[in-house]
Amino acid sequence: MARCYCRWCRVLFCVCSPCICLILLFLYASIMVCIDMKKMTLHSIQSDHYVTSGSFKNKNYISLPKTFWKLHEDAFWNQLQVAIDRHFNPILNPQNTKTRLENTDFYDYLLRLSFSEVTDLESMRKKLDQLPRQLQDFVSNMKRRNYPLIIQPANSTCGAGAADEQEPPLLLLAIKTTELNFKKRHAIRQTWGQAGWVSKKKKNGNVRQEVGGYVRRVFLMGKENPEDLGVDVSKLLEIEGQHYGDIVQWDFSDTFFNLTLKDVLFWSWYLRSCSQIRFVFKGDDDVFVNTPNLITYLHEQLGMPHAEQTMNEFMVGNVIGAASPIRLYHSKYFVPDSLFKGLYPMYAGGGGVVYSGRLVKRLHDISRRVHLFPIDDVFVGMCMSRLNAAPIHHPAFLTFDFTQKEAMDPCAYHKILLVHKRSPTQLIALWDNMSKTKNQCWNVSLRVSDNETTTAKTTKMKLNEYNRK
Ligand SMILES: *[C@@H]1O[C@H](CO)[C@@H](O)[C@H](O)[C@H]1NC(C)=O
Ligand SMILES: *[C@@H]1O[C@H](CO)[C@@H](O)[C@H](O)[C@H]1NC(C)=O
Repeated sequence: MARCYCRWCRVLFCVCSPCICLILLFLYASIMVCIDMKKMTLHSIQSDHYVTSGSFKNKNYISLPKTFWKLHEDAFWNQLQVAIDRHFNPILNPQNTKTRLENTDFYDYLLRLSFSEVTDLESMRKKLDQLPRQLQDFVSNMKRRNYPLIIQPANSTCGAGAADEQEPPLLLLAIKTTELNFKKRHAIRQTWGQAGWVSKKKKNGNVRQEVGGYVRRVFLMGKENPEDLGVDVSKLLEIEGQHYGDIVQWDFSDTFFNLTLKDVLFWSWYLRSCSQIRFVFKGDDDVFVNTPNLITYLHEQLGMPHAEQTMNEFMVGNVIGAASPIRLYHSKYFVPDSLFKGLYPMYAGGGGVVYSGRLVKRLHDISRRVHLFPIDDVFVGMCMSRLNAAPIHHPAFLTFDFTQKEAMDPCAYHKILLVHKRSPTQLIALWDNMSKTKNQCWNVSLRVSDNETTTAKTTKMKLNEYNRK
């Protein structure tokens, strides 16, 4: 009996001890990996977390296409990005993660290197050759993002503003425009884009209180091809720039798929000239912005608990979550699956977005690790998700105009922060009307909920409709 028991013990010992050893080894390895990850995160500059592609910050939104296990997606952009991500993986390449971010050449080198790491480049080329001309153009220029400045405000001041600012400016209006939109720029300068002190009366208990801040303004543009244009407007723009001090122009051709360059180049310019400004509005030149409301809203944000912390990743706008690329060949937003596969990250789209100055630095740094994407809003979303930050949705950013019922309200424009698609003539009339209804509407509050027409599903439908136009 005892002998039998002893034999069993030995068998058990023989079977179990390797298992136990393996388990211990596994535990040891896991702990070491965790410690290493933690160390990397602490070391990494600007406290940017390393976010693996495919990770989720919370379950409510999809931050990045799930490509972690499918390393060889046969879409060009995905392949390029996987290569870059591998170079910055803190476990595979810890030395890259530690390299100083100031070393621009190093980042450019890695971006270029990733092109040679695309598998079966030939078959990829063939697929890309079938794309529309503009997309081919985009692909063949996507390695380059340093274009020289042609025009910028004198003495590297941060755009047009009041000469005698008593405190650091609160808001920079950075408006994307093109060379020939003289009229749009002029209307904006006279209306919502006025630089200087902007304020609004606000109810505080029983008294009216004035809330305000200094605003600066700058227009961002590329170049029109003089041959297509038939005339050379560069002298005119130079004069406009000298006169208003609000033009920043770079030497790249101003096409739809080059808009992402405006963001990337604007961030660098901002960091050189504007870093004392707390917030940036970045938007199109065909929108209406209620600047006084925006100022009040931003003051409220600064007064919130933990504002110091939230300002590291503050971005607000009309947020679109988990949109898929548009595969309609004739759409302006067409992105074929040979270029990109997966869902878009959450992004703020539609005319304009506001973010904190502190976020600019982080976006700028992380954008060097993300390949240019043809759609600017999506690119910014990709950078955000790599910072593990989510833009905030606010219903007062209207992409698709008022509903009929809302449009009847005389105070409609006093309840919003932004509305898309207004012509220069409309802007002037609107501004005029706003000052007439100012007393009547001074106490209305911002639009708080999306009505049923802008729920996710209809937004998507409308977006598709809009893109087909
Ligand atoms: C720029 O600097 C020059 C010389 O220092 C000065 O004369 C000029 O007034 C400045 N311009 C602005 C807009 O500050
Ligand atoms: C972007 O600008 C560059 C420089 O002017 C130009 O060569 C390229 O064709 C442009 N890309 C697109 C997609 O238009």
